[in-house]
Amino acid sequence: MRAELRLLLSLRVLPPRVAGFYVRARRRASRDGDRFSLDSAARPQELAELLALAAGRRAVVELGTGTAWSTIALALADPARRVISYDPELRPEREAYLDLAGAAVRERIELRGEPDTAGPHAGDPPVELLFIDSLHEREPAAAAFRAWQGALAAGAVVVFHDYGHPAYPGVAQAVSDLGLDGRRSGGQFVWRAPAR
Ligand SMILES: C[S@@+](CC[C@H](N)C(=O)[O-])C[C@H]1O[C@@H](n2cnc3c(N)ncnc32)[C@H](O)[C@@H]1O
Repeated sequence: MRAELRLLLSLRVLPPRVAGFYVRARRRASRDGDRFSLDSAARPQELAELLALAAGRRAVVELGTGTAWSTIALALADPARRVISYDPELRPEREAYLDLAGAAVRERIELRGEPDTAGPHAGDPPVELLFIDSLHEREPAAAAFRAWQGALAAGAVVVFHDYGHPAYPGVAQAVSDLGLDGRRSGGQFVWRAPAR
């Protein structure tokens, strides 16, 4: 009961539709013993920061779908947004969460079973927000950014998840190697592409 209350309080930072999804997703994950989702999905505070940065940005690419909680949150937060998400590992648990989100949200999400370095497909729109939450080691994290740099819209925002996390020093090393001049926002690093 106390844990449930703590969870509800932590979700206050999220837009109501996203918070509602997180409550249902967490209940489902607990019931099904889906530890991967409970442990790996972006935490509410970081998600709230990500969604604030995404405001007004309709063409979103996520690297590292996992079980699609953050994918769904990004789509739920703006009915005009389309989210393309990359992950070579097709996790079957994700279907239950996509069902929870509903068909109208599902049709604005495209899941690609490809690695983060695959880059855009022909005809994809310029990326207005790139969320990097795939491999957290130095070289792969830098390679993911490089694969997408040319696909960014003017003024696009790039968010590196788990920046400064003691378990993932590679993220901060990658940001440093890339020479990105951005800012830390909680557990994430935010960089803006030039407005051109
Ligand atoms: C931390 S989880 C993503 C969590 C998800 N973004 C969320 O908040 O709900 C990291 C994911 O990156 C995926 N991954 C691993 N290597 C990858 C690669 N080369 N390209 C894209 N995704 C990758 C893993 O399979 C895993 O599902």
